[in-house]
Amino acid sequence: MLKGRSLIDPRDFTVEELKEIFDLADDIIANPKKYAKICEGKLLATLFYEPSTRTRLSFEAAMLRLGGKVLGFSDSSSSSASKGESIADTVRVVECYADIIAMRHPKEGAATVATMNSKIPVINAGDGGHQHPTQTLTDLLTIRRIKGEFSNQTIGICGDLKFGRTVHSLVKALSRYKNNKFVLISPEELKIPDYIKKEVLEKNNIEFVEVEKLEDVISDLDILYMTRVQRERFFNEEDYVRLKDSYILNEEKMKSAKDDMIILHPLPRVNEISCELDNDSRARYFEQARNGMFVRMALMAKLLGVCE
Ligand code: CP
Repeated sequence: MLKGRSLIDPRDFTVEELKEIFDLADDIIANPKKYAKICEGKLLATLFYEPSTRTRLSFEAAMLRLGGKVLGFSDSSSSSASKGESIADTVRVVECYADIIAMRHPKEGAATVATMNSKIPVINAGDGGHQHPTQTLTDLLTIRRIKGEFSNQTIGICGDLKFGRTVHSLVKALSRYKNNKFVLISPEELKIPDYIKKEVLEKNNIEFVEVEKLEDVISDLDILYMTRVQRERFFNEEDYVRLKDSYILNEEKMKSAKDDMIILHPLPRVNEISCELDNDSRARYFEQARNGMFVRMALMAKLLGVCE
């Protein structure tokens, strides 16, 4: 039963509960009119303390397409956080006005604090360099719609694996399905955190390798998940400038990839995927962004209890 629950970490829901969300998202994609009024009278609050294009707008589009309404802020300087109001007090007030909250915050753990103080469902729309579970729902729906399953895949994850919260959530989520292998491609300074390696991969006996060169492994991959170097999480600009162009996926590198390998990216992209690849049939990142709206429709419908 998902009604009334919050989503902070992709593993807050069982694989069966996730399947319910993906099945509903597929049905919404096939029959959008059937769902056009199911959230009439419902209000989504989007509390975004950090910049966003896809996550905030897809949440808002999702609620509007379900017949509900939205309110919120997209810049903490226009909220009372700028006067020193705590997250706890903010959600205690927002729950008086809205039925569900989507919150993005630069601090790891902020969404957990919000959930502990809220009587309405809270959805983590990204907390610092920690987790981004609705991006993971987006990624998984895209993989399921293209590959038909989440198991038996060799998944290359390339770029900033240290600060990339979408990476941490995706590894956690895909580790629950059978026979997946991870190829973790990053510079030494941007390797995946030890807690993900120890508590997720090693603890569950998941096969993984860590490499530095994309060219050495691209031919093995079924899925290539590219990520941008997260400038906003660096302590100094010098390190960012040195690392920002570590990987640039282009036509030349794609010559070695399988014909059915798919390229995913949570976006925004900076330089890490050359625009010359946008028309390659294996480039699925804009379709992935579109799926994000449908899966957020399904998620909110379930948490609000307006869909079985
Ligand atoms: N993928 C993602 O979280 O994008 P935004 O930062 O634009 O929301």
